[in-house]
Amino acid sequence: MKILTPFSLELTSKIEKFQSLAKPMNLGKIGFSSRLLLAPMAGICNLPYRLLMEDLGAGGTVSELISCHGINYGNQKTLEMLKIDPMEKNVGIQLFGEDSEAMARAAEVAESYGPKFLDINMGCPVSKVVTKGGGSALMREVKNLAPMFEKMRSGMKIPLSIKIRTGWDSNSLNAAEILKIAHESGIEWVAIHGRTRNQQYTGLADWDFIESLNETKKLPLIGNGDLHHPFGVSERLQKTNCDALMIARGALRNPFIFLESLDPNYATQKRSIFIGKDYWEVVQRLHTYITQTFTEERAHLVQMRKLIVWFAAGFPHAAAFRSQIFNCQVLEDTMKLTEDYFLSLGESQKFINYDEVFMSSGHG
Ligand SMILES: Cc1cc2nc3c(=O)[nH]c(=O)nc-3n(C[C@H](O)[C@H](O)[C@H](O)COP(=O)(O)O)c2cc1C
Repeated sequence: MKILTPFSLELTSKIEKFQSLAKPMNLGKIGFSSRLLLAPMAGICNLPYRLLMEDLGAGGTVSELISCHGINYGNQKTLEMLKIDPMEKNVGIQLFGEDSEAMARAAEVAESYGPKFLDINMGCPVSKVVTKGGGSALMREVKNLAPMFEKMRSGMKIPLSIKIRTGWDSNSLNAAEILKIAHESGIEWVAIHGRTRNQQYTGLADWDFIESLNETKKLPLIGNGDLHHPFGVSERLQKTNCDALMIARGALRNPFIFLESLDPNYATQKRSIFIGKDYWEVVQRLHTYITQTFTEERAHLVQMRKLIVWFAAGFPHAAAFRSQIFNCQVLEDTMKLTEDYFLSLGESQKFINYDEVFMSSGHG
């Protein structure tokens, strides 16, 4: 169980103001504390980050993708990735692989680590994964899906979900067919990133396509893609027929996005009540979680640096701060630089340029 760095009364009251607007919901048998969930992200959605996002209003979280073969070989690094903290309320573990037997064996191991649900990665576009038949390549071999789902389900007690794309390419938009197979094979819900595999991260997520699936769906659907800022999320939340929404990249530059998006009036103002001082408190809590999770100083530094720099995006002098941080090799000095920077910001507002491309690759 992790020990918390307490937030100040001021930050706590800001958080509570938004959290009171969250509507708990169910996906199948599982209850979530809000309709806004953190999407899985490789190299990011580890235990400390997931915990922090739950503290900051994410209704549920999913681990980064974890190899079924790594689990079955007993690879130490892979098994570390399965660990969950008792403080994590609504967490799922995402597995990837292509072989039903291997996925089913890995699912039994993953379940023993105590997640609320398991998820299958069917959206990863990365060549290394799809050439072996995993990730979004699973969407091309539709006939193999029901046997895989059923095989995995037979050894599991917790729900199984899938995360897909709209299809492999624009000529094979088969998400609706996959939803039907999923429903018939005991999958509890489906999350969909509104792009094809071939699009990778180019173009825009096709929300008309996602919404059209809601007309015939027989199981809960989570919409995902390009929900980068609170006003966009809040707008989508009000008009969507999806049961829930998932946010990935938007949470990297704005850790308060799950909270801010809950208030439609606030979110359209395009101004935030969260200032540098609040970000410093968030960084300190992250530091505590990471200290209690990773024993290796280098891993700790790498994790802290990338998140600190993303959190600073859009604040004054963020570029200069970023290069200072990347030139600093000592964790303690990194924390001091971060404290000085965020506290020097006073009441300054954060202005992110959402037209700029931000992270155009990933595993789903
Ligand atoms: C760095 C990065 C890593 C990702 N890793 C995963 C992953 O492990 N599993 C997965 O299903 N999707 C993964 N994704 C995809 C996201 O979950 C999400 O579907 C995609 O980024 C679109 O959502 P967004 O526009 O909110 O970022 C990743 C995305 C990024 C940017």
